[in-house]
Amino acid sequence: MKFVAIATMATALLAAPAFAEGDAAAGEKEFKKCKSCHMIADGDNSIVKGGKTGPNLFGLPGRTAGSEDFKYGKDLAAVGENGLAWDEAEFVAYVADPKAWLKEKLDDSGAKSKMSFKLKDADDAANIWAYLVSVSPES
Ligand code: HEC
Repeated sequence: MKFVAIATMATALLAAPAFAEGDAAAGEKEFKKCKSCHMIADGDNSIVKGGKTGPNLFGLPGRTAGSEDFKYGKDLAAVGENGLAWDEAEFVAYVADPKAWLKEKLDDSGAKSKMSFKLKDADDAANIWAYLVSVSPES
């Protein structure tokens, strides 16, 4: 019950219109699911030490898909070439099922993703998004 009360208070405090519903502090913890494959690093300044299986997620909000110095799959790269930049809605949909998202974006039932992980819980994804926003440069 105590947790529920704190969560309710936190939600009330974060209810300013500039913020999405995501809770950055919760997202920081939930990022544990991602860091085996993803680091967050601003050049040499490491914010979260992580693996190199996936691209650096520093500055993701607003970044063009597939635009880091990373060997992306051709399908994610193609979505970026089509001009898609990450926003919260695309991010939440992508992490829920990267392959299905690529198929839809490219209208190609054969599209493939190099990211096999799926984060189905949209609340967790929104929290991770809020966390990524909180560690990104002010735009
Ligand atoms: C098993 C390793 C693995 C895990 C775990 C993983 N990812 Fe990924 N991720 C990848 C790979 C590999 C790619 C590149 C996909 C491609 O090129 O098709 C990627 C790509 C991405 C991209 C696109 C980035 C860009 O530059 O366009 C986002 C966003 C992303 N992952 C978010 C997450 C989040 C958030 C989590 C945790 C909930 C997560 N990933 C967990 C391996 C992983």
